[in-house]
Amino acid sequence: MNTRIRAAILFSGGDAPGMNALLRSFVRLGRHRYGAAIFGVKDGYLGLVRASRQALYNELHVESLVPGFHLDWNGRGQQQPLVLLNDMSVSGLAARGGIVFGAARCEAFKDSEVRRQVGDLLGQLGISFLAVCGGEGSLVGAARLAEETPLQVIGIPATIDNDVAASETSLGFDTAVNTVLSEVRRCSDTANSHHRVLVLEIMGRGSGQLAHCAALASGAEIVVVPERGPLSAEKIRGIGERIENSMTCGRRHAIVLIGEGVSRAADASLGATGASGPAHDLAEGLQQFFRRPGGDFSEVETRASVLGHLQRGGPPSAADAILAARFAAAAWRAAVSRTRPSGILAVTRGRIRLVPFGACSNKTKDKQLQRLYRLQKHVSKFTVGQSVA
Ligand code: F6P
Repeated sequence: MNTRIRAAILFSGGDAPGMNALLRSFVRLGRHRYGAAIFGVKDGYLGLVRASRQALYNELHVESLVPGFHLDWNGRGQQQPLVLLNDMSVSGLAARGGIVFGAARCEAFKDSEVRRQVGDLLGQLGISFLAVCGGEGSLVGAARLAEETPLQVIGIPATIDNDVAASETSLGFDTAVNTVLSEVRRCSDTANSHHRVLVLEIMGRGSGQLAHCAALASGAEIVVVPERGPLSAEKIRGIGERIENSMTCGRRHAIVLIGEGVSRAADASLGATGASGPAHDLAEGLQQFFRRPGGDFSEVETRASVLGHLQRGGPPSAADAILAARFAAAAWRAAVSRTRPSGILAVTRGRIRLVPFGACSNKTKDKQLQRLYRLQKHVSKFTVGQSVA
């Protein structure tokens, strides 16, 4: 057992299901396998920034950073940006959604001087290993810390966007796909009853992964993702034709998933501003298309719905709970390895490997996305007439 390791863990960016399970596994494994002391950082990088400012003004209550301090979520521990964790602190977290520590986005951390102060503070506290859990943006901050300070920093992909280029999957993604799937099924019931076209806006920023996987899993007719360019008049017409085609075959409704990051092409001739977002833009464009003079389905109504933050909540799926434990174990393996490298824990073909920060796109992931796109398109296609082959 290495009793000297002092580690910290933080959660940055948007929360993701499974973060609490990861925290629990990280603390328990670190303590039981390696005898480590583990500090939790509240509110992501913001907690580190607050802690370093408090240290500057001698306001950091280092006496509560001692072994045995039991974090009480509703008590004194709440005031501290950094808390020492024990087995009890993380009890009951396996199935809890969100992240008890809070997650935040932190502009101040983009300043190299702020990062230097943070590095100094962690050095003073004897912390040599930092785990950062979050999406692509959060892991950029982790890479900077690894470059600029003596800390060993391990990035753990955790985001419903699944936008960490190096990793095929990220913590929380499977749960979010399941959440969207169950919402789409509810929407299909009502769309079917009213013979409507429902356009649902799915989170993911610039990544269409969540929309894609949810479309394939749910049987949604169409998926529109940011990776395939802006929403143009031509694209809207193509989607409308596809839906009409399915209706000619006897289909009475359609579900369209659109990624929130889909932009609007200048030619889209929709409402004035586009401020209402891509789902409303597309629903409006499709409504105009169905009502065109001579259209066969002019009675079809379209509706838009933004699924929003419900996509981030809820307990983790079994797959995410298991991934959380595997990520925690892999993080500790890196922490105790001889060379103590920094980098990102990336899932490739089901295995977790440590890859350097900045490792660009995972080729397997890109290919998988292309295959998913074709699969979804073919699975949800309708052609008039019967095939005899
Ligand atoms: O990164 C996760 C995510 O849920 C994105 O899909 C979404 O664009 C963003 O966070 C929303 O951020 P906020 O909760 O800060 O509005």
